[in-house]
Amino acid sequence: MIQKRILSGMQPTNALHLGNYLGALKNWVDLQNQGDYECFYCVVDLHAITMPYDRDNLKKATREVAAAYIAAGVDPQKSVLFPQSAVPAHSQLMWLLATMAQVGKLNRMTQFKDKAGKNAENAGLGLYAYPVLMAADILIYNATHVPVGEDQKQHLELARDLAATFNTRYDVEHFIQPEPYIMGDTTRVMSLRDGTSKMSKSAESDMTRINLTDDADLIAKKIKKAKTDPQPVPTCTEQFEGRPEAKNLMTIYAALADETMDDVFNKFGGQSFADFKKSMIDVSVAHLEPITTRMNDLMNDVTEIDKILAEGGEKCNAITEPFIDQTMDIMGFWKS
Ligand code: TYM
Repeated sequence: MIQKRILSGMQPTNALHLGNYLGALKNWVDLQNQGDYECFYCVVDLHAITMPYDRDNLKKATREVAAAYIAAGVDPQKSVLFPQSAVPAHSQLMWLLATMAQVGKLNRMTQFKDKAGKNAENAGLGLYAYPVLMAADILIYNATHVPVGEDQKQHLELARDLAATFNTRYDVEHFIQPEPYIMGDTTRVMSLRDGTSKMSKSAESDMTRINLTDDADLIAKKIKKAKTDPQPVPTCTEQFEGRPEAKNLMTIYAALADETMDDVFNKFGGQSFADFKKSMIDVSVAHLEPITTRMNDLMNDVTEIDKILAEGGEKCNAITEPFIDQTMDIMGFWKS
């Protein structure tokens, strides 16, 4: 039987936000605690440099993302937690896969189009090849499942595709085709200011998102200012029609309070958004404050995080080095 293995990652660019937490990180912790999977959680620092970044902040941002993983419940005794750059086989496999990745498919990647914007001619090759590195991150562990938010589905398709292309080209069963693991109702957490666009680290206004580093006052301020509409809180799903902000806030509430949407309709349906928001602030602060406090504690003395990351990197190198050798052997490379 194939060992069920999870791999996922987040970029150390700006602070993690509620979308990262509800769309992915919270699920990582659940999967880890189910005990059915071997879990690998990566801080994808090589991906973070595909857009302009602050060299002086990269190390801190990497530690901060690791601290967020741990604070949210990733347990280094149960899961392997590591920085991507500490495991050279990710980059090595990326090159091998890049020779098989079709330009036509990369051209269709919506994240590249969004990030490159109008100036695609000036975008770096790294940004274009981002999905190939992501495929390498996954395939180098032969991960069976990849818990991510909805926005990463297209990248996952490419990883599946590259695994199949390699196996067919070399007539082997070397790579497993990974399954996306897109869980729950919060696979797309939307901006607090516009219910039709995704909550994102790169949105200009910080008021569009709740960061895992925000304190209680800031969380309260952001929720109070979150966009709603003049109608009362919906009483059923049909009333979400044309009201993306209402849907988003209620979805976030349900996830943080660990309640069903029916519970939320029963509790708040027909009331004013002002009242709903008061409860939403309470629930958000109660859920997020312990995470932020633990993150801050970990960041006050980074020796523990550095030790965890170094040990994680070593474990990954022990797994990936023989696997990259095997991969190159299949491809016909010379070896002494
Ligand atoms: P990143 O850092 O952009 O996002 C990290 C995770 O957060 C999810 N996410 C969201 N989920 C719901 N609502 C949102 N508004 C929202 N915004 C972000 C993303 O889907 C993701 O799961 N390319 C990956 C990083 C990566 C990776 C990998 C992931 C690199 N290699 C290998 C899995 C496996 C990314 O989007 O990072």
